Amino acid sequence: MTNFDLEKMVDTSDEWIRTRTGISQRHIVSENEATSDLSTRVAEQLLEKRGISADEIDIIIIATCTPDHFAPSTAALVQNNIGATNAWGFDLSAACSGYLYALETGNKFISSGQYKKVMVIGVDTMSSILDFTDRDVCVLFGDGAGGAILEPTKSEGGIFDSILLMDGSGGDSLIMPGGGSRMPATIETIKSKQHFLKQDGKKIFKYAVKGMAEVSERILDKNNLTGDDISLFIPHQANKRIIDAAAKRCNISENKVLINIDRFGNTTAGTIPIAMNEAVADGRIKNGDTILLAAFGAGFTWGSMLIKWDSIF
Ligand code: ACO
Repeated sequence: MTNFDLEKMVDTSDEWIRTRTGISQRHIVSENEATSDLSTRVAEQLLEKRGISADEIDIIIIATCTPDHFAPSTAALVQNNIGATNAWGFDLSAACSGYLYALETGNKFISSGQYKKVMVIGVDTMSSILDFTDRDVCVLFGDGAGGAILEPTKSEGGIFDSILLMDGSGGDSLIMPGGGSRMPATIETIKSKQHFLKQDGKKIFKYAVKGMAEVSERILDKNNLTGDDISLFIPHQANKRIIDAAAKRCNISENKVLINIDRFGNTTAGTIPIAMNEAVADGRIKNGDTILLAAFGAGFTWGSMLIKWDSIF
């Protein structure tokens, strides 16, 4: 869906969206396609690339705020779809920071020594909770998914530090009010559009710039690193202006910042794994590289992570 498509739906323009956000287009699922379908495709691609069968997966973690259902979990649907007969798993809800939270969770399962293969997927079908008559919100998001299989390594590589944070006082700034136990679905909640995402865009912008920049700076300082030591900075893709401000504050030069928001929009938990996958595919990430990840999202939730890239591919 391009900005020009949106021009026909709400009072907006390609120029406004590009200059305020950096987005030119986003992907929207087809009718009847949901979060477990995107996740299953990612899971199948991961298994194929790794050359293993589904029964080798120990745990499936799905980071999403747009699950197919409250119950069963999306993880259970994916487990069944791919035939991961030895896996258990769960959905993890941390909105745009979901993939960082999930990577850290998977990392701890691997470090425990008890599990050998943890599949982590970041996925959101944001179009299912967008009001396509609300220009403040609908132009920002897209649907998408990506993931990884985490495994133990004997080398020094891997996830070597993370800082994850949360401040629930920001909860009202980005919220889908209806549908949960606080406001179960009724004719009235549907009529008053309580089942769509609502946001205070200006407030989120301010907190996201500060949060992503500070937590990125903090993890660099903690590890005695500077922006120069980073091979690639892969931030959550919410708004190009938020990314630019965070990168500037950490003294990370523009050519080391991965930006693909122009083609995908904000896919919430999907942004970081999609960007990582693209960077691996086009050779921008190589083994031994030091990668900085950072995210900020609803909750508020935010965090940063340092990875010494160590892939078998
Ligand atoms: N098209 C055209 N005009 C618009 C649109 C639109 N889609 N949306 C708002 N406007 C108008 C406003 O009504 C306002 O008009 P006015 O001056 O007549 O009142 C004008 O554009 C400027 O609006 P601002 O809110 O000042 O625009 P701003 O520069 O703050 O950008 C934006 C708005 C893009 C929403 C920005 O605040 C933002 O990106 N915030 C973060 C939101 C976000 O990322 N949410 C995602 C989830 S959280 C996360 O992932 C970090």
